[in-house]
Amino acid sequence: MTGTLEIIQPDDWHLHLRDGAAMASVLPASARHFGRALVMPNLKPPVTTTALALAYRDRILAAAQAHSLRTGESLSDFSPLMTLYLTDATALQEIDRAVDTGVIPAVKLYPAGATTHSDSGVTDLAHCEPVLERMQQRGMVFCLHGEVTHSEVDIFDREARFIDQVLIPLRARYPALKIVLEHITTREAADFVREAAGPIAATITPQHLLYNRNSLFQGGIRPHYYCLPVLKRETHRQALLAAATSGSPRFFLGTDSAPHPQSDKESSCGCAGCYSAPVAMALYAQAFDQAGALNRLEGFASLYGPAFYGLAPNTRRLRLIRRASLVPQRFAFAEAALGGAPFAELTEDQSIVPLAAGQSIAWQVQAV
Ligand code: DOR
Ligand code: ZN
Repeated sequence: MTGTLEIIQPDDWHLHLRDGAAMASVLPASARHFGRALVMPNLKPPVTTTALALAYRDRILAAAQAHSLRTGESLSDFSPLMTLYLTDATALQEIDRAVDTGVIPAVKLYPAGATTHSDSGVTDLAHCEPVLERMQQRGMVFCLHGEVTHSEVDIFDREARFIDQVLIPLRARYPALKIVLEHITTREAADFVREAAGPIAATITPQHLLYNRNSLFQGGIRPHYYCLPVLKRETHRQALLAAATSGSPRFFLGTDSAPHPQSDKESSCGCAGCYSAPVAMALYAQAFDQAGALNRLEGFASLYGPAFYGLAPNTRRLRLIRRASLVPQRFAFAEAALGGAPFAELTEDQSIVPLAAGQSIAWQVQAV
């Protein structure tokens, strides 16, 4: 069946762009489809201050401009929003500085050791009380990587344990703090976010809407489906799909697109993260379509996120066309992408494999 769907241009409320040539090579994929993206701060070293966040933002804007000069494709409508990486030592003044810029709406919690470059993360939120108090006063959003990291907790239970041990006490102590539970993966998280008191929402990735943990082991180990929090059972996927398509403004789009070179994914200790940026909107459309809920896609992708962050929706639009295509097996990455290295000769550290590589997807996306 053919068909088109036009929606207000979406935003990506959870994006990893990395830095340098890697950033420059993945940026266009996001900027083509999304009006804004909330850029995660887990660089090495992490983006812990307003000054670092603004400098990072400038590098992203410069890369967008360089792309336009190099290719003639304008990315000038794309607006990156930044996050600060919370540490045990974050200074109170950073919160005021960040809010005053108007382009740093959120602070990110990585429990120490939870994921890629999280070793400077928070060891105990008790160290951050004045900062959280100030964020609550200033309306700054607290984005949570919601997993406990103790080695004795089963990897499939880490999110549910986080809700009990961290999120419930946090909600009670700061009832007006704006909280986003990022990349939710479980029924427990969907239920909690739907019911909880106070300003709270959750982002949901395309992979957690479309795949369950069997995808990690389909005929062999599949590193490109490995992300954190890890894919869960089918019952959880169904709960997430129901939440995303429910029309509740507490659930909105955040891809968690997390680029790593092919060589770092296909390794004896492969990195966590799915590179979804080029296919994310098509995959969300596919998930909503399969659920018979395409009429709810615009709210999830383009309206509820800005509403939670206190921003107006984008003014441009995006067209989704129901037309089957194959997802490329890989793209050129970092310097190789910028320098136009011959595609057939790319090594694995010059390549990046997207989510759903080699699969047929039913939707194509056009900015209008
Ligand atoms: O899978 C993930 N990859 N989860 C995260 O939380 C971080 C991300 C990354 O930065 O690679
Ligand atoms: Zn992330």
